[in-house]
Amino acid sequence: MSFSSAPSRPEDWWKSAVVYQVYVRSFADDDGDGIGDLAGVRSRLPYLRDLGVDALWLTPFYRSPMVDGGYDVADYRDVDPTFGTLTDFDAMITDAHALGLRIIVDIVPNHTSDAHPWFGAALTSSPGSAERDRYLFRDGRGADGELPPNDWESIFGGPAWTRVPDGQWYLHLFDPAQPDLNWRHPEVRAEFEDVLRFWLDRGVDGFRIDVAHGMIKANGLPDVGDSVPAGQRQVELLGRARLPYFDQDEVHEIYRAWRPILDSYPGGRMAVAEAWAETPQRLARYVGPDELHQAFNFDFLDATWSADSFRKVVDTALAESAIVGAPTTWVLSNHDKQRHVTRYGDGALGLRRARAAALLMLALPGSVYLYQGEELGLPEVLDLPDELRQDPAFRRTGESRDGCRVPLPWSGDVPPYGFGPAGGGPAWLPAPPTWRALSVAAQTGNPDSTLELYRAALRLRREHTAPAGSTEPGQVTWLESEPGVLAFGFGRPAAAGSTELVCVVNLGAEPVAVGNYGTPLLHSQPAGPDTPTTLPTDSAAWFTRPATG
Ligand code: NOJ
Ligand code: MG
Repeated sequence: MSFSSAPSRPEDWWKSAVVYQVYVRSFADDDGDGIGDLAGVRSRLPYLRDLGVDALWLTPFYRSPMVDGGYDVADYRDVDPTFGTLTDFDAMITDAHALGLRIIVDIVPNHTSDAHPWFGAALTSSPGSAERDRYLFRDGRGADGELPPNDWESIFGGPAWTRVPDGQWYLHLFDPAQPDLNWRHPEVRAEFEDVLRFWLDRGVDGFRIDVAHGMIKANGLPDVGDSVPAGQRQVELLGRARLPYFDQDEVHEIYRAWRPILDSYPGGRMAVAEAWAETPQRLARYVGPDELHQAFNFDFLDATWSADSFRKVVDTALAESAIVGAPTTWVLSNHDKQRHVTRYGDGALGLRRARAAALLMLALPGSVYLYQGEELGLPEVLDLPDELRQDPAFRRTGESRDGCRVPLPWSGDVPPYGFGPAGGGPAWLPAPPTWRALSVAAQTGNPDSTLELYRAALRLRREHTAPAGSTEPGQVTWLESEPGVLAFGFGRPAAAGSTELVCVVNLGAEPVAVGNYGTPLLHSQPAGPDTPTTLPTDSAAWFTRPATG
């Protein structure tokens, strides 16, 4: 495969960026109330610069009753007092830019909070009013309208409809405190275009679009019907079948209206979709020069621990990128999923695999989204007391995403391990005692630590795959390997005589010989006597060799 000769442009920064997801309430607490805040993010920017990431994606910090961790927004143009003020935001973004870090903010357009003034107005207005038309209010079924208008289920469990005192029902694909907006209403569209401009004017470099596939519902709000196998919830069809409330063709009109807004600002303002579609082909429709720049590739996160599974996902993603003309994204964890250390087997096994997966992901062309704490090798916290769990899905389904949202350990010997200032309150979720050894301070300087592995990998990725500031993502060349092993070369358009990176991952049951791949650069496991000629099971290594491109 040959390298693309397209010149790299600074506004294409996102094409190969490493983006670090900051779950603001769990990252760093500056004011000591036990909840992370924007001043906390600001104070840790040098850590992120030194880690070697290019950008941060901040989860919602807008005014919110926090029913769903801030994904229930009451005011899209203000910072929640828990997280600080607009002045704190401005100070944070100014510092970030000065350090060369870009800022992506989350935008939540599918639904508002029930505390949003629009929803308040809808409740006090009558059925059929203009105020109700900004949401999806309907009469119920049954003799007295006592049954929900259709069979749609909330992603968080239970029916997707809640009845109001005058007898009408409103749609909420998530919690009842998150009413869905009516995106066929021109005021809704105008409002969000203005919200985009508000944050673009404040200097944000991009947006992560929440539930980007959800804003348009099929006309007439038809039942899902009996396409759902008995005993399954509708949400289990996500990513496998088209549901009448997701991935409707008309949703693309919204993004075709947003793109010119982003393009009218200098410096390469981008948008990444959190979207789920039936097939990778349908997901690819969100991406392109007249729509969004990227969509999360959750197939990589969902891949099981086998060479075949990863190979298939990588090949599919690379083929799709070629079609849409934009590099894909790679994600192993986020604030909605069990942390990958635990998914891969937990304990020492899970950590070995997580470290190997990191080297796989960071060697692939395209952009990478890291979730805070993965650089520390944090596992999911599985034993949080139920009464501390805050995920609204917990009460409805028994499943909770709190275990991946435990505040980060930074330093020290006692909880909350430097998450807040000395003398501050306990963190909103407690870290287990084992996290003392996983703190940033505890891992810094230990060459065998996961943190130092990420630091080294990010530095080498930059050096070996981005010569001369190139943002072109380059190509993968699969190399011959033993069964159960993935091996590929990866380079970017570069001057003759440059080197490329070779990544080898052993997902098989036996150690494999890797003496022929080039000069060893990095190994996911602490060096053993046979390193670097043998690669143990559940580990990965990087080599360098002259570019073949
Ligand atoms: C996806 C977000 O990532 C998740 O945390 C949230 O609960 C839902 N969207 C609803 O906004
Ligand atoms: Mg705080």
